[in-house]
Amino acid sequence: MAETVFAPWDDANEKPLIRFRNVTKRFGDFVAIDDLTLDIYEREFFALLGPSGCGKTTMMRMLAGFEDPTEGAIELAGQNIAGVPANKRAVNMMFQSYALFPHLTIWDNIAFGLRRESSDKVAIAERVDEMLKLTRLEKFARRKPHQISGGQRQRVALARSLAKAPKLLLLDEPLGALDAKLREATQFELMDIQEKTGTTFVIVTHDQEEAMTVASRVAVMDEGRVMQVATPTVIYEAPNSAYVADFIGDVTLIEGVARARSTPATGPATSAEEPAPAAQTVRTPQPNALGLWLHDKVLAPVIGARKDIVRQLPPPSATEAEPAPNAPVEVPSGGVEIDWADGQPPLISVDGDPALDGKRVKLALRPEKVAISKSKPQAVNVLQGKVIDIAYLGNLSTYHVELANGTMIKAQTANTRRVARRDITWEDNVWVSWSGTAGVVLDT
Ligand SMILES: Nc1ncnc2c1ncn2[C@@H]1O[C@H](COP(=O)(O)OP(=O)(O)O)[C@@H](O)[C@H]1O
Ligand SMILES: [Mg+2]
Repeated sequence: MAETVFAPWDDANEKPLIRFRNVTKRFGDFVAIDDLTLDIYEREFFALLGPSGCGKTTMMRMLAGFEDPTEGAIELAGQNIAGVPANKRAVNMMFQSYALFPHLTIWDNIAFGLRRESSDKVAIAERVDEMLKLTRLEKFARRKPHQISGGQRQRVALARSLAKAPKLLLLDEPLGALDAKLREATQFELMDIQEKTGTTFVIVTHDQEEAMTVASRVAVMDEGRVMQVATPTVIYEAPNSAYVADFIGDVTLIEGVARARSTPATGPATSAEEPAPAAQTVRTPQPNALGLWLHDKVLAPVIGARKDIVRQLPPPSATEAEPAPNAPVEVPSGGVEIDWADGQPPLISVDGDPALDGKRVKLALRPEKVAISKSKPQAVNVLQGKVIDIAYLGNLSTYHVELANGTMIKAQTANTRRVARRDITWEDNVWVSWSGTAGVVLDT
């Protein structure tokens, strides 16, 4: 079966289902949403991610019809929805504090909205049964809400929201009330249900891992503005600003002044026959802690792997993370180098934009792209430091290394070997290194 990539946002012929056009929302003098433009496509699982108060709920409330934009327009399937009352929109909103009717059975809770719109008892019964099946609640149909668990109640609320087959389902922190374990399980259920029904989901969350796990695309918001909209992989691997880099996942930001590079830097000579150094090997995307590891570990054996979702790069393998001590490194030309500390070599980023020449920039480095070793490795960027702290995360270890000028840098290794790198310990003098493509140069 051919694997088609779901990416309507890359297709100029696709019409978005939802379109925010220069939407501003003010409450008195306060600007909650600031000239925001955004497209969301049919069948997307779209996540709004951002700190508390950045305007996520306000955007959802405007979509649902509980608020109108002060300026600009919101279109649903090409129609301006201003003036269309909430109950006439093909939109259903499920709030963080979804309330089920305590005196009604699960079955009747799901049927409630349907009964208000239709008197066709057979059709209603069919639809309710279908929803019970979809959310795997058949066994609980005759119970009352207090006789089922929190996770099950969450599924009832979801079944009720989906019963009228909305085009668009808005989920505002739907999993906020669940504990961590149940939250993860429910995320996968949501993804599964979203796929089966083909409904467009827009989910609000302040949990970056949740957004990265469930979403086709993520919008990272700050103070009423969208900072970046992209797939989880792009948000993680190619953040467009220090704000986004810092908001998603773990990152070290090193500040300095960029200089455009034109000629290859002089590294140790290397013959053309030699294989590419291990540290530069291309890694194939696979799930990791920020991706879909739970799905792959737990659910994939039963229901098969998800092929439609972009995955994170795995942490480097032991061989990648620790280049052979004497393998010479050829430094590709182009990009920028960053002067960041007196008496320290400049940091090379071959993907850096030469137009940043002379500007203050930040180099964003993900810990899993920084290797650590006790002997000096051959790599494009090599710096010396001291281990200040170590965090063991089961199969991963993160080392916090202090450089000569006090800068802290995080290096992560996969503990693939039994003894791992426990030979590196607190106070050890170490080398941290990374390739010319590992970092992202950001305009500050
Ligand atoms: N009805 C309102 N009146 C005045 N201010 C509001 C109102 N609703 C939201 N706000 C303000 O708008 C900002 C964004 O709120 P909200 O969209 O709820 O944020 P989020 O959901 O991202 O936490 C907050 O500063 C909030 O206080
Ligand atoms: Mg909110």
